[in-house]
Amino acid sequence: MQDADMQDADMQDADMQDADMQDMVRWVENCRVCGGNDWLDVISFGSTPLANGFLDPAAVPEDEPAYPLEVGVCRDCRLMSIRHTIDPEALFSHYVYVSSDSDLMAGHMRHIADLCVRRAGLDAGDLVVEMGSNIGTQLALFQEGGQRVVGVDPAKNLVQVANDQGIPSIAAFFGAAEGARVARDFGQAKLVLGRQCFAHIENVHNVLDGVEAVLAPDGLLVIEVPYLVNLIEENQFDTIYHEHASYFSITTLSRLFAAHGLHIVDAERVAVHGGSIVVMASRVTAGRRPMPVVAELVALEQERGLTDDSAYLEFAARTRRVLAGVGDLVRDLAARGKRVAGYGAPSKGTALLQFCGLGPREIEFCSDTTPLKHGKLLPGTHIPVRSPEQARSNPPDYYLLLAWNYAEEIIRKERRFLEDGGRFIVPIPEPRIVSAESVLESFLESV
Ligand code: TYD
Ligand code: ZN
Repeated sequence: MQDADMQDADMQDADMQDADMQDMVRWVENCRVCGGNDWLDVISFGSTPLANGFLDPAAVPEDEPAYPLEVGVCRDCRLMSIRHTIDPEALFSHYVYVSSDSDLMAGHMRHIADLCVRRAGLDAGDLVVEMGSNIGTQLALFQEGGQRVVGVDPAKNLVQVANDQGIPSIAAFFGAAEGARVARDFGQAKLVLGRQCFAHIENVHNVLDGVEAVLAPDGLLVIEVPYLVNLIEENQFDTIYHEHASYFSITTLSRLFAAHGLHIVDAERVAVHGGSIVVMASRVTAGRRPMPVVAELVALEQERGLTDDSAYLEFAARTRRVLAGVGDLVRDLAARGKRVAGYGAPSKGTALLQFCGLGPREIEFCSDTTPLKHGKLLPGTHIPVRSPEQARSNPPDYYLLLAWNYAEEIIRKERRFLEDGGRFIVPIPEPRIVSAESVLESFLESV
């Protein structure tokens, strides 16, 4: 090839990459909930690869794609969200996130099943539809209770597992078309459930059109999302990554649901994922009276400053401070010859490590229970993931607790590591070190 041709080919390649990139990522001008465009710029995390994009060490791309990550708040409906959208196919069609089989999560799923049965008045034979049903762990609990169940999830690999385990599931993005299809094929749902998936949805109105299509007149919509109050107050900035388009409050959800003839009738704060909220909504026409807690939570959000700008700007300042603190602490330990590893390889860990600028030089590996992640590299930082057994055979001096949402359970489980002189670095709300002595001290304080 002539030089000029080669240059041409290179330029075409570059154009192609730009075009691919443009297809993959789009700037969001209008608020996903209210359509407004009066934005408060909160914080930018630069460009990062997708947090769940684990890499095969044998096939690490030379140019790992990275996408901008900027956070804004709509001054009209107060939705906090990321300002770009990433092609959902790329995010969710093949998913390595498997519903955790931790004790905390198992107990929580049981609680959700009981709550839904009670609040939706479910009888045997009633239809339960779950969006983002993953491998069907939650739906199995309804099936045990005699309900008919259908899961809808875009991850083909996970839907296959669910179907193999006898949980009828459809590989699709839930939306207007899918809601209508489920209604036609299975009938109307007494309960539509969406656990920890609403924040991931780009077109929330399309999903609620789907809910409208399938929800029985007296049916209940139950969604569980990380709660904005916890995110802001506990500096959970590492839960901000491309998969999470939106960060919800009751204030904003009320407005969103109202556009679909729905209203919030009950809500409950729960501990999972660092503090989430379970929101129950029904058709306005069903005549259910909202419980007092709904107004109380709206008042709480106002009191915490979430309906004006200051809370978000203070959050951004704290985020910068904590990021620097965690980065400096780990770099300092590494410089003093201490071995540091990550505990868990959650998406939020990928985010945190990248935001802090930490890589394999400081973090030797991440230990994680998810078999799908073993032997892979974390996106961006390329830190290797090991199984807990492998990690236990040669434990580090310090574990950076990336899966901080399971802190209690993990610290209890890793008593041996602590007793042998190991320490945890808990990164948020403020970086702190946990040793066997400090666990004992806080236990003594609590009794
Ligand atoms: P999770 O917080 O559910 O995920 P994300 O940030 O991706 O939403 O992920 C927790 C991760 O931590 C998951 O990959 C499993 C792992 N983990 C362990 O390795 N050990 C444990 O004891 C627990 C509870 C989780
Ligand atoms: Zn808005």
